[in-house]
Parts: sequence; C-alpha cells; structure tokens
Amino acid sequence: LDNGLMRTPPMGWLAWERFRCDIDCEHDPKNCIRQATIIHSHVHTVKLLFERRLVRENLFIDMADRLSEDGWRELGYVYVNIDDCWASMDRDEKGRLQPDPKRFPGGIPKLARYMHDRGLKLGIYGDMGTHTCGGYPGTPLDKIKIDAQTFADWEVDMLKFDGCYSNATEQEQGYPLMSNALNATGRPIGYSCSWPAYQGGLPPKVNYTQLGKICNLWRNYGDIQDSWDSVLDIINWFFENQDTLIPAAGPGRWNDPDMLIIGDFGLSMDQSRAQMAIWAIMAAPLFMSNDLRTISSGARSILQNKMAISINQDPLGIQGRRIIKEKSGIDVYWRPLSKDDSALVFFSRRNDMPYRYQTSLKKLNYTTGSYKIFDVFTEKTMTLKDSTDFVVSVNPTGVVMWYVSAPAKLSLRQLY
Ligand code: GLA
Repeated sequence: LDNGLMRTPPMGWLAWERFRCDIDCEHDPKNCIRQATIIHSHVHTVKLLFERRLVRENLFIDMADRLSEDGWRELGYVYVNIDDCWASMDRDEKGRLQPDPKRFPGGIPKLARYMHDRGLKLGIYGDMGTHTCGGYPGTPLDKIKIDAQTFADWEVDMLKFDGCYSNATEQEQGYPLMSNALNATGRPIGYSCSWPAYQGGLPPKVNYTQLGKICNLWRNYGDIQDSWDSVLDIINWFFENQDTLIPAAGPGRWNDPDMLIIGDFGLSMDQSRAQMAIWAIMAAPLFMSNDLRTISSGARSILQNKMAISINQDPLGIQGRRIIKEKSGIDVYWRPLSKDDSALVFFSRRNDMPYRYQTSLKKLNYTTGSYKIFDVFTEKTMTLKDSTDFVVSVNPTGVVMWYVSAPAKLSLRQLY
C-alpha cells in the first residue's frame, strides 16, 4: 500500500501469541495466576491481583517501557500492538467501538499517547465481520467508516484487520473499503490484512496485486503457535509457494508469516536463530510476541542481532528464496540485498548432529570474484573466492547465516 508507511518490514511487539485472550481472573484463576506471575517482578503484585482491571493495560505499558529502555526501539522495534479481546462487548451510544472499561480504564487515546511520548507506535486489532475471532464485536460492512474514524481519533498507528465471522463476498468488499476508510481519515495508519489467510493464501482466490495496493502487510497462512513444528510448517508453506509470494512483496507491502516466538517456551536457541534468520530472508514483519520483562539474554541477543535486522530491513525490500533443498536435510536460502550484497542461510532439518555441508559460492550461483563473508551469529569474517569449496557446520534444526559483500568493484583509478 502506497501510504508512505512500512517501506521496510514493520517491527515491534504484538500481544497475541504469548498472551492470547486470558482476561478472566475470576473464572480462570489458573491462567490468571499465570498472568500474575508475569507481573511478579512488580512490587504491586498483590494490589494488581485485586485490581484486575489494571493488569491488561499494564501489559502494554510494561512492554512499551521495555521497548524504550532495553535497546529495542533504537533497533526499530517500535510498534506495540494490542490484539483481540480489548473491546467492550457493547458499542457506545454513538455506535463506536469502545475498550473494556474495567481493563482499559484510561481509554485507548491515553495508551496511544504513552507510546508516542516514547517514540513508539500503537497498533490495534479489528475484524472484518460480525465478531472478532475471540467473539468480541467485529466491524461489519456498515461499521467500517465509523471504526476507521474511531481508530484515527484515538491516534492509533496500525490496524490488524482479522477476518473471522464474514463470508468471501463481505471480505472482498470490506478489506478494500477499510483501506479507503483509513486513508480518508488523513491519519497514517499501517494496515495489516488477514484476508488472504481466509482465502487459503493462494491464487486464484487471492489477488496479490490487489493486496499490494490496499494493504501494507497481510497474513497468508495459519496462526503461529509456540513450537518448532509450527515454525517449520510455516517455513515449508512459504517456501513451497515462494514463486507466488515473492513478487507480491516490496516496500510498503509485505507477506506476513506471523509473529516471532523467540523468547517463549517452544524454541531452543538454535531454533530461535533459525526463526530470526528465515524471517530476515523472507523480509517478514518482525513482531515479537513474548514477555520482554523476563526474556532471557540469549533470546534477546538473537532478536537484537544488528546484522540479522539489517538484512530484514534491507531497503530494496526483495523477499528472499530457497535455492536448494537437499535430500540430506539441508536447505539453502538466499536474499539479494542492496549494493549487490546478499544474505545466505544454511538450514538443517536434521535431528542427529551438526552436519558438515560442503559447497562453494559458485555452486550457489555467485559470479566470479572474491567475497567478504560476515557470519551473522558468530560475528566471524572471512574472504571466499567463488570457486573455493567450503564447509559449514549446521546444527540440528539450526542455521548458519551469512552476510555476503559483493566483490569490490575496481575503481577507474585502479583500472588505469
Ligand atoms: C486469529 C488471528 C490471530 C489472532 C486471533 C485473535 O486467529 O489469526 O493472529 O489475532 O485471531 O482472536
């Protein structure tokens, strides 16, 4: 979508995968206790247990504090996104959506201001349909304008527009209508469309040319869960369909394989590096869904890896591809970057031991020359001729990721 926003994939934090729709401390004390442990580090734990209404809003405030105080914001992680279950079950007397008054007593504008004061942005969640996936009020066709205006009035910076409880015809009208309605408010609002995920993700049902014109990013596929199986399933789907998906992406329009779950419970450190590497190759939006208050230093250093982020954020915005899938269980991924640089990922599907994979840059389609290699996770550098065979040792369900600098072009002075 050509609204000037998200010229590189958006980065930030999104509540859903990690915090879901767990709101009922009264009837679901077990899960509520889990939420309470999330806030355990706070002096106010006991008070918050009783003042349930503050817990949910504090989640977003706490994440904003972490993003701005722990080095995330400077790296580009600026969105703090509310997902489902924020709304009151009833619209207000003017027909507008309103947040649950007990859980968001300050209202959304206050939360938006909190973000803006810290150089962050606030995202919100809506649903093209009668209800959200969690059963909260949705945005049927006749409410699109008023809801777009409400989000703009609240000074929200991004909308994730889900697609539960609507049929294909309503979606076909609703997603473009919301795009126009957001534009008509005059407020720049990043627009994330779940539409293709509800159409099976592939043409002829999905029209990626149209999506690129109306949305900044879109979910193509199912929800990520906190497991390696889920990450692998997503990777497989996106690269099996890469010839369809790659041309759809570019500055302002991104395929969204869903949130980063690094820092949660399901991934080992190797698998976490693998998710980071592949999301960078894919030019995927980087929305973490984790608890930034308690994240381990290992997970944090993967998510804050500057080279991986700069590959993800490359200004050319070309989505990378799988170039090799070996029977041995090794895949090779490649992404062209600006200035003729590129990124390579060696990925292992194996479950035995580090696998020594032998190849050369020439075999990976590189042209003649001497290349500077920077290993993204070990930070080691070396120089490699295209024709030189090398061996990379790839851990089970892990990656080796390289930033490859193009051979220096001879200057005129060197030529003469
Ligand atoms: C759908 C979306 C998820 C999340 C939930 C909320 O499943 O794909 O990302 O927003 O709805 O209910």
